[in-house]
Order: sequence, then structure tokens, then C-alpha cells
Amino acid sequence: MRIVSVVGARPQFIKLAALSARLAVDHEEIIVHTGQHYDYAMSEKIFSDLGIRNPDYHLGVGSGSHATQTGEMMKALEEVMVNRNPQIVVIFGDTNTTLAGAVAASKLNIPIVHVEAGLRSYNRSMPEEINRIIADHVSDYLFAPTRTAAGILEKEGLADKTYLTGDIMVDTLSNNLQVALEKSNITKELEVDGREFSLLTLHRNYNVDNPAILVNILDQLDRLDELIIFPVHPRTRKIIENTEMSWANISLTEPLGYIDFIAAEHYSKRIITDSGGIQKEAFILGRPCITLRTETEWVETVEAGWNLLVDPSDADICGKIRTFEVPASKEDIFGEDVSSKMAGIINSI
Ligand code: UD1
Ligand code: UDP
Repeated sequence: MRIVSVVGARPQFIKLAALSARLAVDHEEIIVHTGQHYDYAMSEKIFSDLGIRNPDYHLGVGSGSHATQTGEMMKALEEVMVNRNPQIVVIFGDTNTTLAGAVAASKLNIPIVHVEAGLRSYNRSMPEEINRIIADHVSDYLFAPTRTAAGILEKEGLADKTYLTGDIMVDTLSNNLQVALEKSNITKELEVDGREFSLLTLHRNYNVDNPAILVNILDQLDRLDELIIFPVHPRTRKIIENTEMSWANISLTEPLGYIDFIAAEHYSKRIITDSGGIQKEAFILGRPCITLRTETEWVETVEAGWNLLVDPSDADICGKIRTFEVPASKEDIFGEDVSSKMAGIINSI
């Protein structure tokens, strides 16, 4: 089959890596990069770390308002899909790239596989929530990463299209962790070798776009009085640059490559984040995770006791972090050898 895989943002490259390696065995895969993420550290570096071949098409859309960005992507994706006439389009996650791929393919009546289907935060102020709902409802094969996600799809009347596959990020992590631990020098480069540190990431619109909210979070985390390594997402960097603030205990760096980042996760004492993918990686790697959000799509990690939701407007973020303890063990949530399961389903289409 000819398959078009549509990606554009950092977590999508990471999801693509494991699946693409499988699909390439039996199919002609065309990789289309919309250009939603374009900084070297957010795109090219992730491709090279994960050995993903260069995209067949780079649409160069870049940043913009939601409708502008999504619309530009849809126009360019439609052209590729019409010219290359794929039997299947694969979309990943819940970004504007996902939405554009979903709408463009569904209007051309091309069957769509949605990887990471069935996530809901029930918070419509997140652009991702709109993207997910639309992507799920126009897709034909819904690959649910967790039982909760599969249950949500069933409640929305989509059970007959749902496949409980597990989470593809498990495969990318397991394919790369050993290499990361052998090859990454990140703790030396960041001068934290042998020291305890927490790893922090922030990029959700509601946490970072308003400087007062972002500064309040960082001020509070600074008061933990413990070393925090903070690879700064470009969205967040723009805001921090304008504040001209600095924090004694928080060490800001560029976004890390995937190999260095998973090594940093492994060596960290705890992870503090508002990222979706990082909550999962923290769980898989057995690191306590504090999620600075009021809700999460990854409810199993919270129920298991490994992920603590802390309201970013809470006046005592530090207290919540200090007293958080994880259980002695954990059960599997995200499955294993997920790319084989996904490839098996795709092969039978
Ligand atoms: C996007 C996704 C989000 C995902 C995140 C992963 C949407 C609506 N959001 O959020 O779901 O969790 O990616 O990281 O699709 N920028 C740069 N360089 C880049 C990319 C972005 O400077 O390479 C800056 C631009 O100022 C841009 C801003 O970051 O306007 C936001 O980028 P955008 O892709 O719109 O959203 P993200 O916050 O990255
Ligand atoms: N990641 C990375 N470098 C960083 C921060 C994150 O490689 O500096 C990886 C991380 O390991 C995870 C993914 O990016 O696999 C998460 O992406 P992100 O937080 O941008 O988006 P989300 O998962 O919230 O959509």
C-alpha cells in the first residue's frame, strides 16, 4: 500500500519513528512534514536522533494563528494527497497538523488511521481537545493507547473503529533508552553529574502565554530550593525573554535532543511538566511526575499514584511537590511492542 504519514510537531516525530520503521518493511511510506515545528532542536535534531529519513515533502507552513496555520497545512496536504493518491493516511496525536491531515484526507475519502485516539481532557480551552474530537470522528481506524481512551471512543459511538493497541511512544522509548544511557553526555554537559535534579518542561498555552502565570510558576518552583533543569520550549522562551527574569535554582537550556532528553529523564529525581508525552515517559521510566495542570488525559498514571496533578495557580506548589510520594511498584498501562500491533492492523486493511 501507499501510505502517507503526516507529522509536523516534535511529539509526532517521536511517534512516527517507531511506526515508520515497521511500515517501511511492507509498504511505500511517504512522510509529509507540515513544518509546524521548524527550529533545529524541535525538528531536525529529533529526526537525526531517531534515524528518521528526511521527509518526502516538507510543506514549510511554520507558525501562525490556528485557522491560518491549519488552513495552509490543509491546502498543501490536499495537493500531496491528490498527487500521490495514498490508500491510507496516518495522523498522530492532537496538534494542528493532526487536524489538517484529518480534514484534508477525510474530504478526499482516504481512509485515516489515527494514532493516539480517544484522549479527552474535557477542557475545550485546549486547542488540542478540539483537534482530537474532530480527528477521531473523521478517522476510520482509531488506535487507542490506553483502556480509558478505548472506553471514551466507545461512549462516543466509535467502538467499531477502535483498536486498543497501546501507546507507540513505548516503542520509541524502549528502542532508544539503552543507546541514550550509553551515549548521552547530557549530565556532564549540564554540569549535574552525580547531583540530584528535577527536570521541568512547560508549554501549554494556559501556563505560558500569560507572563504573570508563567513567572508565578517559576518563582514558586525556585522556592523549592533544589536544582531544576528546564529545557525551554520555543513558545515559552518567547515569553521568558520578554520578562528578563532569572531564577537562582532553575537552569534554563535549549530544548534537548530526544536521546539527551530521555537520558535526563532517567537521571532525574522527579519530573515536573505540562507535556502529554513526558507524563507517559515519567511513568514508564519510574520517575515521580508532577503535572502542572488541573486535568490530564493520562488518568491511569494519576490513579496508579505516579503522577500528581497540581493546579498551576495553587499557592503551595512546593509543598505539594515535597510531600508527593510514589508507590513501591507499578503495573503496565501503555502496552509493549505497540508498533507490531499497529502494523498488523494496517497490513490487514
Ligand atoms: C504544539 C501543539 C501541542 C503540542 C506541542 C508539542 C497545537 C495547537 N499545539 O504546541 O499540542 O503539545 O506542539 O511541543 O498544534 N515556535 C518556534 N519554533 C518552532 C515551533 C514553534 O519558535 O520550531 C514558537 C512560535 O512562536 C509559535 C509558538 O512557538 O507561534 C507555538 O508553536 P505551535 O506549533 O503553534 O504550538 P506549540 O505550543 O508548539
Ligand atoms: N522532548 C525532547 N526534548 C525536550 C523536551 C521533550 O526530545 O527538550 C521529547 C520528550 O522525550 C517526549 C516529547 O518530546 O517524547 C514530548 O513532546 P512535547 O512535550 O513537546 O509535546 P506533548 O507530548 O505535550 O504533545
